[in-house]
Amino acid sequence: MTSTASLPARAGRLSAADCRLDDLRALVESTTDLTDYPFADDTDRGVLFYDAARLRTHTADPDTCADVQDELARALLDGPGIVVFRGAFTDEHALAETTAYFTETIARQHADGFAGGDHFAAPGANDRIWSALQKLAVDRPDLFARYYANDVLALVSEAWLGPMYQVTSSINVVNPGGAAQSPHRDYHLGFMSTETAAAFRAHVHRLSPALTLQGAVAHCAMPIDSGPTMYLPYSQQYEPGYIAFGLPEFREFFARHYVQLPLAAGDAVFFNPALFHAAGHNTTTDVYRMANLLQVSSAFGRAIDSVDREAMVRALYPELRALAAAGRDEDVRAVVAASAEGYAFPTNLDLDPPMTGMAGETQAELVHRALHESMSPEQFAEEVRALTIRHTP
Ligand SMILES: [Fe+2]
Repeated sequence: MTSTASLPARAGRLSAADCRLDDLRALVESTTDLTDYPFADDTDRGVLFYDAARLRTHTADPDTCADVQDELARALLDGPGIVVFRGAFTDEHALAETTAYFTETIARQHADGFAGGDHFAAPGANDRIWSALQKLAVDRPDLFARYYANDVLALVSEAWLGPMYQVTSSINVVNPGGAAQSPHRDYHLGFMSTETAAAFRAHVHRLSPALTLQGAVAHCAMPIDSGPTMYLPYSQQYEPGYIAFGLPEFREFFARHYVQLPLAAGDAVFFNPALFHAAGHNTTTDVYRMANLLQVSSAFGRAIDSVDREAMVRALYPELRALAAAGRDEDVRAVVAASAEGYAFPTNLDLDPPMTGMAGETQAELVHRALHESMSPEQFAEEVRALTIRHTP
């Protein structure tokens, strides 16, 4: 195997003081040796390429298929952290028809005056279709069945997350002139402020990437000047990366060392969500760069009971008001943490767009705000109902 510099696993908190650029540099100076990845076809600037049609000749056999998945998991964990499948989506998967459907959906959104918020761009700079998975399934089940009868998506999702994974998708179109993103990591820890991410201890920073696989299917040719995503291979191995990615010296390092790969329509990129990456600047005047951003989630991270937390916080609100009136703020915090939904996701991004910051108000934040504003129980019940509706698909 390729030897890569590795750091001892840490316990406890991570902070900016742990972020040394030389540690990241040692990792990203790793080289990718094709002989370590016998099922790959090619490597370019560290990134591994697999020809989807050729891969199918291996995956037909269950034992070989499992070996391919071992290789993919290793590439995502200890290798470059990014793999590209050439020709993963073809006519067989209704690539052209789904592209047309997504283009029509965006035109319909424009006609309806909808300008979706975006986590990284001002409304209108990009076009988004949130919850594109559900919309495609409900509007065009025929196309959905062809598109998602995709063995490459199943192969790599199971390799990274195991069985029982769950797919979500959003369409992102970066219009001509669309600006580049800042380098970042993705969901979960990449989707919160540095301060919040730092409240999670180091073992959670190591866990977060195992809960999600990020993918992007190119729905058009993406030459370099259209700004396909910039990546920093091997950076997913950098433990304090969720704290580091916003620091100026790390951003400068990213700007000097990223790799950017042209893609053909139907190519699919999958990467470890801890990989430093950023969408590029679309300097063309005529390429509407459409990608289907796939986020595949682990089955884990769920509780065993399904709980109606809206009913709970409505019932508890008078008790919480009494605690707050008695100045027992620590007790309020503990009771809210034990009852209210504390996470902003999953949500309905059409109704709950991320206009300010990365996430909308959580139910727990709403409870604290209600207490702070001395909301009546009736008004609180209305607001918590509206929040539930914003989170309902
Ligand atoms: Fe991202």
